[in-house]
Amino acid sequence: MHHHENTLRQYRAASRKVKHTAKKQWNNSVASQWDLFLPPARPSISELAVIERFLLSGSRRKRNFKVAILGSTPEYRDLCLTYGIDFRCIDYSTTNFSILQQFMVHRDDHKHNLVVADWRTMRLRERFDFIMGDLATTVVPVTDHEAVFRSVRRLCKPSARILLKVPLRQNNVHRTHGEIFRLFRRERKHLQPFAAVWHEVLLADYDFRADTMNCLTSLARLRTSYQKGIITKYEFDSFRARWQALGDFNMNMPLRREYLKKLSPYFKVLEISSGTDWYRSYAPVLILAPR
Ligand SMILES: C[S@@+](CC[C@H](N)C(=O)[O-])C[C@H]1O[C@@H](n2cnc3c(N)ncnc32)[C@H](O)[C@@H]1O
Repeated sequence: MHHHENTLRQYRAASRKVKHTAKKQWNNSVASQWDLFLPPARPSISELAVIERFLLSGSRRKRNFKVAILGSTPEYRDLCLTYGIDFRCIDYSTTNFSILQQFMVHRDDHKHNLVVADWRTMRLRERFDFIMGDLATTVVPVTDHEAVFRSVRRLCKPSARILLKVPLRQNNVHRTHGEIFRLFRRERKHLQPFAAVWHEVLLADYDFRADTMNCLTSLARLRTSYQKGIITKYEFDSFRARWQALGDFNMNMPLRREYLKKLSPYFKVLEISSGTDWYRSYAPVLILAPR
């Protein structure tokens, strides 16, 4: 059996598996409350400056420079619209695309700027010069990451660049809420607690074997810490509001070395960049090229 047939057989098997886990957890209620969320859960100004540089240098060098956005990130759509750059949002929900428009400065339209597809099984005719995702693989089960990499690789023009902002962990260490919020009060109390210790709180109840966390599990643990007086009402409420908006929602923060290993058959890492944000060490912006 030829290599191509073998890959196709493997791909079909992977797609069949993917279908079973394709729960659309990123639902309309999350989209309609998106203004509750802050960087790192959304792009920061300094991250957008990094992306702006790539968009401007790419569109200057290439005619018909075309961009794909994994999801419907309002800030990314506005950036493309600001510079008149052609783009497609690839999103499994038309409604989320429309709902998230309310958080934009400019207006785009779903007829031209939206392709309804799941990143794990998408097969588009179009090819792109630049593909970007903010916490895209973070909201897809780790077992499906390779399917996403394979699908994104297929969207690439030979000289394409891929930019993925991905929160990654260094090790399998659980920190207590006591430790985390002492860190917050000592070093980051100028920030919203949710934004300031988002990473640490996600990992506090992380299931390292299943490589995922669940917002309702985290909410229950935070509520216990609040009732025990380990965290304040202000600190608890900052997470409660967002975790309740997400509900039964899983996010992952893979081990950095494993994530880079898993993407290496599909992409070359050109640069591990970031914005200038306090969280840049754990939520880097990976600049990739197709293999
Ligand atoms: C990009 S993700 C994460 C949010 C991101 N941090 C942001 O600021 O946009 C959210 C968007 O991706 C879409 N989405 C989530 N999982 C998807 C999947 N497997 N395939 C296609 N779209 C997906 C959701 O509908 C939503 O509009």
